[in-house]
Amino acid sequence: MNETLERWSTRRAFILAVTGAAVGLGNIWRFPYITGENGGAAFLLLYVAFVLLLGLPVMMAEIMIGRAGRRSPVQSLGHLAAGAGASRHWRWLGLFGAFTVFCILSFYSVVSGWSIEFLIASVNGDFVGATPAEIGAGFEAFLADPRRMTFNHTLFLAMTMLVVAAGVAKGLERLNNLLMPMLYLLLVLLAGYAATTEGFVPALAWLFMPDVSAVTPLVVMHAMGHAFFTLAVGACALMAYGAYMPDHQSLPRAAGAVAVLDVTVALLAGIAIFSVVFAQGMDPGEGPGLMFVTLPIAFAQLPWGALWLSVFFLLLLLATWTSSINLAEPMVATLQGIGLKRGHAAAVVGVAVWLVGLLTVLSFSSLAEWRPLFGMNAFELVSTIPPEIFLPLGGLLIAIFAAWVMPEAAARGALGVGPGGFALWRGLVRWVAIPLTLVVLVAGLV
Ligand code: PHE
Repeated sequence: MNETLERWSTRRAFILAVTGAAVGLGNIWRFPYITGENGGAAFLLLYVAFVLLLGLPVMMAEIMIGRAGRRSPVQSLGHLAAGAGASRHWRWLGLFGAFTVFCILSFYSVVSGWSIEFLIASVNGDFVGATPAEIGAGFEAFLADPRRMTFNHTLFLAMTMLVVAAGVAKGLERLNNLLMPMLYLLLVLLAGYAATTEGFVPALAWLFMPDVSAVTPLVVMHAMGHAFFTLAVGACALMAYGAYMPDHQSLPRAAGAVAVLDVTVALLAGIAIFSVVFAQGMDPGEGPGLMFVTLPIAFAQLPWGALWLSVFFLLLLLATWTSSINLAEPMVATLQGIGLKRGHAAAVVGVAVWLVGLLTVLSFSSLAEWRPLFGMNAFELVSTIPPEIFLPLGGLLIAIFAAWVMPEAAARGALGVGPGGFALWRGLVRWVAIPLTLVVLVAGLV
């Protein structure tokens, strides 16, 4: 339909917007527990390698397509495909992305709701003086209570859809400007505190001294999926943001900055969390509750613990908010593309995601043992299959479109690089990212 006229106002605003999309539960909640379940350092190294070799070039491809099309993902893909003389069926990739983010947002909203619960509990001082066992038991009791979880899920989703309904660029810029620096500061403080505890050295060893024998094709696939998930790549969500990117900005530099910021957050969170794990003699493979149990334990021992913890959960909540806004954007843009008003589109998406999210809520109580596929329950399915299979698959198709289908001139212009830089990027996408993603996907699935 109409071209997007809205633009992020500055280069910094664009970088912060993409960082806001990238930094979220993936770094602070998912990274530590997945690393814990997959044996530590070997997984971490694979994940960093995938960020550099796949995540970064494909992220550039994805944003580039959005910037070249300046429309919603579905429309940009259709328009650019037509311009290149290729099949209009490339539009389906945009719909596949919308489906992927739909699945992801359904659990993302529920888990972000946990931060609301924890924020309130920290402000109340509930964790002060609590023993690790009490904190663990409190979390279990919360998970077993679908009503409290549904309440938080509803609240979080409403917060997200309100911003999306209002239009992304304006509201988000201000939020990001404030949030990212504060989140960093707090994580550095937390990691600094971790360095004074006895768990610090074992945590570093666990995170950085790889045990190669722990690597299986499945571990490699988890690492690849996580690289896509944490960078928010593969679902056309960043494509939607690329449409608002200013004209004269270097895309490789912006993407590089985002990747560095994103990985640093994960490492800081990992150091802080695993220091607690080892200081308390906990199990690193504890699963999705890892962060929610370890950090209250750590903060409970600090002077002003309740205050620090409240600030932490507030920042986490804001970080997941900026990510979920990005998750919702491609769906809303798609519905807008078929003629819905933005507000109506946001309402439709909100209700649908809310309903499916209830399956995640109930996966911790009455539906815990309902395992419809691959022996996984609903939460395990939505938090595994879309990040680890749909995102790499979407990323693969995005990469093929950008590096094989789009004409060189259009791609180069939208990337904003010279001939040498372009050849490097395209070589990396064609001969490294595409084959590597294929091989890992196939090996992991087999
Ligand atoms: N990158 C986000 C996070 O780490 C999640 C996300 C995935 C956002 C895919 C958008 C698209 O929390």
